[in-house]
Amino acid sequence: MRIVVLVSGTGSNLQAVIDDIGAGHLPVEIAAVGADRPGTLGVARSAAAGLETFVVDFKAFATRGEWDAALLAAVARYAPDYVISSGFMRIVAADFIDAFPGRYVNTHPALLPAFPGAHGVRDALEYGVKVTGCTVHFADAGVDTGPIIAQTAVAVLPEDTEESLHERIKLAERTLLIQVLAELASGPGPGRGNKHQDDGGNHQ
Ligand code: GAR
Repeated sequence: MRIVVLVSGTGSNLQAVIDDIGAGHLPVEIAAVGADRPGTLGVARSAAAGLETFVVDFKAFATRGEWDAALLAAVARYAPDYVISSGFMRIVAADFIDAFPGRYVNTHPALLPAFPGAHGVRDALEYGVKVTGCTVHFADAGVDTGPIIAQTAVAVLPEDTEESLHERIKLAERTLLIQVLAELASGPGPGRGNKHQDDGGNHQ
């Protein structure tokens, strides 16, 4: 199974995937890692691991549509089975979803549909929930929407800050993402739909 991973930041979850593949546990090939801006640690880590990388800099395009087209072209040239948004903080266009139907997977640091968006951890903490968590889901062109594949609950501790809670969520998120990738790799294959979308189940 070939994947392209999209990142915007530190790529610590991606690093866990790289390490798991390197340890021979996960039968997945990372065809390339792409970012929406230059200078991300996620791309630096990937290059250090010998992976191919690319940047489609959001600020380098005159229009949103041009960036959308460039991102789609950059990803499509690797002909991935799945595209993984791992801390990629941009909503992709409908054309992108259409190009990878049921094959664009996102991770989010909250129990969707609660607390979507760029500040899922902060929003959950500010609301005062006692349990939050992480979600891996098939993404559509909305903000952290689309069929849920799997979720893990994480307790909020009284002393938590956004940072401490996010770090604990990321630990759960790494395990969950690796589990989902392993399931997808052993599944019926991309582009043919799959059981995650059919049974709406939590595969924890
Ligand atoms: C992860 O917690 C991911 O769920 C979140 O960004 C973090 C990236 O961490 N994504 C979103 O909030 C998407 N709405 P990382 O770059 O260290 O892997």
